[in-house]
Amino acid sequence: MLCLGRMTIRTTSETGAPIQGPSATLIYDDWYPALRTDQLKHGKLSTAMLLDIPLVLGRRADGRVFALRDTCPHRGIPLSFGWFDGNRVTCRYHGWEFEPCSGQCALIPSLTSQDKLDATRIYATAFPCEERDGHAWVYVPGAGSGRKSDSAQLPPVPDLAKFGPRYRSAHLSADLPCNVDHGIIGLMDPAHGPFVHQAWWWRSRASIREKKKKFEPIPEGFRMSAHAPSANSAPYRLLGVYGRPVETTIDFTLPNRRTEVIRCGHKWFSSLTTVTPVTASTCRIDVVAAWNVLYFVPFFTPIAKFFGAKFVRQDQETMIQQAQGLRHNPSLMLIDDADKPAKWYFALKQARLDGSGKHPMSGLVELHWRS
Ligand code: FES
Ligand SMILES: [Fe+2]
Repeated sequence: MLCLGRMTIRTTSETGAPIQGPSATLIYDDWYPALRTDQLKHGKLSTAMLLDIPLVLGRRADGRVFALRDTCPHRGIPLSFGWFDGNRVTCRYHGWEFEPCSGQCALIPSLTSQDKLDATRIYATAFPCEERDGHAWVYVPGAGSGRKSDSAQLPPVPDLAKFGPRYRSAHLSADLPCNVDHGIIGLMDPAHGPFVHQAWWWRSRASIREKKKKFEPIPEGFRMSAHAPSANSAPYRLLGVYGRPVETTIDFTLPNRRTEVIRCGHKWFSSLTTVTPVTASTCRIDVVAAWNVLYFVPFFTPIAKFFGAKFVRQDQETMIQQAQGLRHNPSLMLIDDADKPAKWYFALKQARLDGSGKHPMSGLVELHWRS
């Protein structure tokens, strides 16, 4: 689904069956955006699927967001069918009550004074959950790694970089019918631009020319070193109106994050794009962006959202088509240099999964391609 205000596109085939390709190995023990926190209304429970885990999310009366596995530990009915009064989630089957941030059971209504069972020793599965940039970020531990209750002992919650108190912001998202690996390598693939994103306001096929970009290793990722952005793309030219050199830095870090920062004097644009596994064979792309560029230009935010949505939709439509091919499990290729970032992604992911921590890059690399 692509959401922009009320605009929605579903990623299903004409028959209504969801299109999906082969599954991917998932990375656990990290933060993922589960849903937008503007969906968490007072006293209401919302559901989301994250890494094949059904979640129920909400906002406590004190404002704190929470995420529980959407399963009652008693007999498995989804807790989302129950009630939430702002402090406790009540299961609709036998009325067990849970404190939703810890998951601790607070009441079992059927117990009598004869019973020895201590309800507070029972827990629904609660996941660390934090709100940033309108995302409810959920930490998904690997199987058997135990209950994680203290966010302070976890890696930092991802945050969109901002360079001052005054900015505008926007969010876009689209469901992709392919596994997270295809979503991510689509994100870092420079060669599809002139074909998928052809538009008068972005670039045309005729504007293809040779590019060279420098990349450097960063922890669990790589950075396209600061450079002047493509002179042949109109939105970047817009930033040039301030008459100062424009610099862009793009980072990719595991498990799924691309951050881009464009700075021009005191003007800036920043975005955080994530491709999140919904299931092992489907994913969702989210873009959150903030900027102080053209802050006072009326309608700039809706216009930017309109073009951003169009851009994301072009990727989405292409991936829906790609998923039709992937269903048949074809063998695929990654070529140098245009697919080199995708190769680094797979190597970084492998190093995370096998715990070797081995980085595929030993230093600065210059890549060349035409786009
Ligand atoms: S299944 Fe939830 S209280 Fe029994
Ligand atoms: Fe794209």
